[in-house]
Amino acid sequence: MVKSTDAFKADIAIEDGVITKIERKSKTASADLLPEFEADEVIDAKGQYLLPGGVDVHTHFDMPFGGTVTADNFYTGTVAAACGGNTTIIDFAIQNKGETLKQTLDNWRQKAEAKAVIDYSFHIALTDVTDNVISEIPDITNQGVTSFKLFMAYKGSLMSSQETIGRILTESGKSGFLTMLHCENGEEIDKLTKELLANGKTSPFYHALSRPADSEEYAVAQAIKLASDNNGNLYIVHLSSEGGLKNIKKTLLESKKVFAETCPQYLTLSIDKYTETPNAPLIKGTKGNVNLPPEFEGAKYVMSPPLRGKYNLTALWDGIKNGAINAVASDHCAFNFHTQKTLGFNDFSKIPNGIPGVETRLYLLFNAVIKDKHIDINKLVDVFATAPAKLFGLYPKKGEIGIGSDADIVVFNPSKKLHIKTIKLHQDVDYCPFEGYKGNGAISYVIANGKVIVRDRAFCGAKGSGKFLKRNKFNPLCLQASFSK
Ligand code: URP
Ligand code: ZN
Ligand code: ZN
Repeated sequence: MVKSTDAFKADIAIEDGVITKIERKSKTASADLLPEFEADEVIDAKGQYLLPGGVDVHTHFDMPFGGTVTADNFYTGTVAAACGGNTTIIDFAIQNKGETLKQTLDNWRQKAEAKAVIDYSFHIALTDVTDNVISEIPDITNQGVTSFKLFMAYKGSLMSSQETIGRILTESGKSGFLTMLHCENGEEIDKLTKELLANGKTSPFYHALSRPADSEEYAVAQAIKLASDNNGNLYIVHLSSEGGLKNIKKTLLESKKVFAETCPQYLTLSIDKYTETPNAPLIKGTKGNVNLPPEFEGAKYVMSPPLRGKYNLTALWDGIKNGAINAVASDHCAFNFHTQKTLGFNDFSKIPNGIPGVETRLYLLFNAVIKDKHIDINKLVDVFATAPAKLFGLYPKKGEIGIGSDADIVVFNPSKKLHIKTIKLHQDVDYCPFEGYKGNGAISYVIANGKVIVRDRAFCGAKGSGKFLKRNKFNPLCLQASFSK
């Protein structure tokens, strides 16, 4: 079994959904625990890894965005999450303009309640911050929602002013929550987008040019300054660039706190995806416009921030290794290529932003361990489950295999071959940005709260069995100072 700090052979006993015994196996003994237990089920995991169930702290299920709604709802999305080795997700409840936070939370709890197959929680994405909204925050954090996201981009819709961001950061220090910031310079993006479109540059490739890496670098610097000026708790979401990372490292070297997340897409894919021509066969949902020009293929990778030049990938892996980046989340925000991405057929700025990834995160991280050797297996466990659980107030119940923890375990077979294909995935979207990826590894079992919910890659859990998790307040000391230059 693997922890973020250790790995050893062990027998594990689970009772009433909780891990009650972990017995290190000596080299000679074969089944130390078994005689004591009259188990309902014994899983022989010899030769396989036991990993903690993934904690994906960045998903968008059933979310209205860009003139449409994300393809996965809380049923299909959490089934896909489970089949990708996740046992907990934290989704973004988006505040509609004029809404109270209570209304936002009720709305999203309703979307999830009868559908989610794994445990879940919410961050609230704030889009309309008034005095009343701020006064609601202590109550909402007491209800276990201890993180709020604000956007420095998406001018005219989700973007917040510097003043608002400062107010929320101040409140985060007082009320004990984490302020999550989407760091891109919204003003610059708006200007570049208008210029590109006015010059007839409408294809998906120009999405990347409208959101350059230095726009993230600038916004990260601003975010850090605002956090420092307002004594706030800052977590930077979906970091994509070496420049942004440089600002984070500088802050950590000054012994100030800032936390950061990146995503598998920024670690494995690069800007050339926007000019790639079609190669993947169409699998599902071919109802839409099948006569798309080859340059529209890039719409499959339209997300914000966009994919970057290759050198950024190396920098981000280094950031994970040296502890400047704490979590790898999916930012699963799926839109069908043929029926939804086509909203921006003549205008890249109208392509709904986001890609699927909740089902492939573990596979890509695992191959970063065994194939590409970017990180070791302990670091995988840390960024996949342990650190996100700590940051978002779920540890030690979630995020680690330990006595007293919820029995959320992935049995992972390292010897099976991996070939990522849309047709084999459970996410309800007609393409996969990692289509064709080859490597090693297969999920044999996913156990959530002591129940087997995935067996040999097939989902066998129950609709609505996931429960809402009330999270603890943010603890600024939850991660040991782990950054090393
Ligand atoms: O393109 C993305 N990332 N879509 C989801 C919304 C967000 O900003 O996280
Ligand atoms: Zn974002
Ligand atoms: Zn997102």
